Amino acid sequence: GEQPLDELIASLTVDIPDHPEPGVLFRDLTPVFADGPAFGRMVRGLAAPAVSDPRVAAVAGGADDPGYDVVVGVEARGFLLAAAVAYHRGVGVVPVRKAGKLPRERIAADYSLEYGTATLELHADSIRPGARVLVVDDVLATGGTLGATVGLVEQLGGVVTAVSVVVELVALAGRERLSPHTVHALWTA
Ligand code: PRP
Repeated sequence: GEQPLDELIASLTVDIPDHPEPGVLFRDLTPVFADGPAFGRMVRGLAAPAVSDPRVAAVAGGADDPGYDVVVGVEARGFLLAAAVAYHRGVGVVPVRKAGKLPRERIAADYSLEYGTATLELHADSIRPGARVLVVDDVLATGGTLGATVGLVEQLGGVVTAVSVVVELVALAGRERLSPHTVHALWTA
């Protein structure tokens, strides 16, 4: 049979010790993205999360309704995934960007990262109030990035269906930080 997806992702990921700083083990997923069959399975896996919000679960699950109306992707590596997931499900994609990149009226959230601090921004008109939103990124580490992203979406009245990531670094407890939202991880490392 087919190799389990978590094993496939693990086998293609390259670990880089002490990058970008001493003590950080960087999980380089670019070889997974570069592998056609692995990328396809990854995108389909991210597109099909368990739905966390009961308001969404009540209407989701049918073949025609993935449980979200739009996919939000986080700069930069999340963009590669979010656009593919959105295309796969026939919905739109909205970028959450690092500070200074979005040209129109926007909202901002500061967050702390595993290595440093930063600001994320979202166009103020990019999420319709009540829209169901799937948030996608490559890595869940401390949860600072995705916590800020979920906060931005909710500030605009979006309802977060779930947070989908390729890899969850369980030791950093990002899942707890995102509670009560469901984190859908294809691989836990
Ligand atoms: C990485 C990764 C996640 C985030 C996870 O992005 O792609 O977005 O860190 O870390 P956290 O859970 O501790 O917040 P990074 O900020 O390095 O940006 P990049 O994708 O633009 O390289």
